[in-house]
Amino acid sequence: MPRLMSAQEEAKKNAARAALAYLPESGIVGLGTGSTAKHFIDGVGELIKEGRKFSAVPTSEQSRIQALDLGIPLAPVDGPWEIDVCVDGADEVSDALDLIKGGGAAHTREKIVNYASRCNIIVVDDSKLSPQLGEKWKVPLEILHFAHRATAEALRTFGELSQRQKNGQALITDSGNYVYDLATGPITDPRELDTRLRALPGVVETGLFCQRADIVLIATQEGVIEKKK
Ligand code: A5P
Repeated sequence: MPRLMSAQEEAKKNAARAALAYLPESGIVGLGTGSTAKHFIDGVGELIKEGRKFSAVPTSEQSRIQALDLGIPLAPVDGPWEIDVCVDGADEVSDALDLIKGGGAAHTREKIVNYASRCNIIVVDDSKLSPQLGEKWKVPLEILHFAHRATAEALRTFGELSQRQKNGQALITDSGNYVYDLATGPITDPRELDTRLRALPGVVETGLFCQRADIVLIATQEGVIEKKK
């Protein structure tokens, strides 16, 4: 029997599907990571089957494998790319449209692809909204394996820190690094925090995306709402 979709899953799908209307007729598309972006990638696969010409830059191994399974042509991994539109999810979206990402540990690649995209569309359900970043979510940090305990010690001055685990083991990212999550509480200046965190040797990237969403599509009970930068 087909699995029934939860209301939240349905909302994620609605937001992700709405993003398909923002794609050009053909071009290069950035493929986000996570349970919301997955629905978008399914949609791109359908458009390809209908004859639309896209190539894609995936932001994780998970999205790369999904794209390959759907027959979506992939751009070379080394870049550089001129991506027309990137569609990705987020863990937390503030009133100012800053983002916390990295719940799926893909935030470093996601940020690289975001910066290479002319237009970034973020797709979320309304549970992801909060007035200020840090109210609902910790800040994910990709940390170089070498000396990670020393890096962690320096990071503890910013808040409570925990190393992310998966199946009882330290999580390893697609790039072979660790992820630590930093509990900061509400963040008044995400850009400043991002700069200070990235200044520490050993911090590969943070999950703070400051003013990197051109459009946010939010699935609510009343339908999908568009917010623009
Ligand atoms: C992946 O590392 C993340 O940045 C995801 O985009 C984010 O966690 C949103 O994921 P969901 O769509 O699964 O909530």
